[in-house]
Amino acid sequence: MNSIESSNQNHVLPNPPTNPIKSKFKIFAFQTLPLIILFTAIFLGFTTTNYYKVHYLKYSLKSKTPFHSIRSLFSPQKPIPTPSHCLLWMSPFLSGGGYSSEGWSYILSLHGHRKIHSFRLAIEHHGDLQSLDFWEGLPQNMKNLAIELIQTKCNMNETIVVCHSEPGAWYPPLFETFPCPPSYYHHFKAVIGRTMFETDRVNVEHVERCNRMDYVWVPTEFHRSTFIESGVVPSKVVKIVQPIDVEFFDPVKYKPLDLGSTAKLVLGSEVKKGFVFLSIFKWEYRKGWDVLLKSYLKEFSKDDSVALYLLTNPYHTDGDFGNKILDFVENSEVEEPVSGWASVYVIDTHIAQSELPRVYRAADAFVLPSRGEGWGRPLVEAMSMSLPVIATNWSGPTEFLTEDNSYPLAVDRMSEVMEGPFEGHLWAEPSESLLRVLMRQVMDNPAEAKARGRKAREDMIRQFSPEIVADIVADQIQDILGR
Ligand SMILES: *[C@@H]1O[C@H](CO)[C@@H](O)[C@H](O)[C@H]1NC(C)=O
Ligand SMILES: *[C@@H]1O[C@H](CO)[C@@H](O)[C@H](O)[C@H]1NC(C)=O
Repeated sequence: MNSIESSNQNHVLPNPPTNPIKSKFKIFAFQTLPLIILFTAIFLGFTTTNYYKVHYLKYSLKSKTPFHSIRSLFSPQKPIPTPSHCLLWMSPFLSGGGYSSEGWSYILSLHGHRKIHSFRLAIEHHGDLQSLDFWEGLPQNMKNLAIELIQTKCNMNETIVVCHSEPGAWYPPLFETFPCPPSYYHHFKAVIGRTMFETDRVNVEHVERCNRMDYVWVPTEFHRSTFIESGVVPSKVVKIVQPIDVEFFDPVKYKPLDLGSTAKLVLGSEVKKGFVFLSIFKWEYRKGWDVLLKSYLKEFSKDDSVALYLLTNPYHTDGDFGNKILDFVENSEVEEPVSGWASVYVIDTHIAQSELPRVYRAADAFVLPSRGEGWGRPLVEAMSMSLPVIATNWSGPTEFLTEDNSYPLAVDRMSEVMEGPFEGHLWAEPSESLLRVLMRQVMDNPAEAKARGRKAREDMIRQFSPEIVADIVADQIQDILGR
């Protein structure tokens, strides 16, 4: 870690260029924000194409999404309502990806349960592309809330900004995106970065970006320690856990989905009334689908009357998962049992968010032996649905996995990330042999599995329900405003 710390000092990001129009506009932050953004963009060497793109979006999405232009939230013309303090949450609300659903979970929690009335809530899309499909698929209440919160008027100097995205999107952004914070850091009351990673460290560029923030919010103790060890200033790092909608993911409210009607059989033969293992993940190596397939196919055979359902979607690959699985099995050392393969199904059709609880409801156990997770949304969703969960006991999920509420899967060793932006970092290799043991244990001990599932839901309600997390966030904001 020493080398990272010392190289930090040599790579300190330059301060934003002194803006000649700054003093003039300091007071009238709002109407002039678009101008500031434009100037900022030019200062940062952005091409004017970005500006046109914004306007293209503005006209193409007009009246369809509320995020149609650079916001005019800081309006000097209208009086600012009281309380005058704002919490401006900036996240890829309209991308539909991981940060998007996280962002929504905080906003819905804060909006629904905030008992502290010392600040108002504002949102802005930032950090990823907008997806019109995603916007159109949102329930009306979320659309209405977005339209309401996008219009919140604030004074910059009384606004706390949360940049909830990957640090590369933070000001100055490394790719085309509406910057966060929207203007110079010091124009705001405070600026908070909310992010996380799935490996054992934070790279130098990201550490520098974190250190420009007043605070860095991370979801788990694992991140607190990896961020600090990597060189993020300890006093800036605050753990803010992530909410799970325990009312929505409530097993008593749903009937199981008929998985057979949406899934494709890839291996083995049709299983009508067997034990169902479910896994949900993006198709990437990190998720340990290789470990899962090997363990499952070695441990079970056709005689076990068991099925593994993989709900997956492409991640930088095509979507032909059936052949990928067959190729993998063919090239692995796994041998077909005498009685035939245990069944493997793939669900690769889009499952609407409203149907998701019914997918969990159709399973007897959830299993995800990933090599590293930031938080592990499917894990907490499954736990909220009272399912027994088997998951790798490393990284983010150590925040909530215990021997009482799940089946924490021990790690064999650490291994090096071989490709992608985190090449050279370490993550965990979950134990293949223990995974076999745990899957067998869950299947053979239904009473124990049920008890852990029940405890899982209790723990989710107690630790991560929206009102609990809303209070944690509100207390932090209160604290910052009081300084
Ligand atoms: C923030 O700016 C507004 C107007 O621009 C001003 O009225 C207000 O006093 C300022 N608040 C603080 C806390 O400096
Ligand atoms: C899981 O990890 C935690 C923290 O790293 C450790 O304390 C605990 O003993 C582990 N549990 C299992 C079952 O491996």
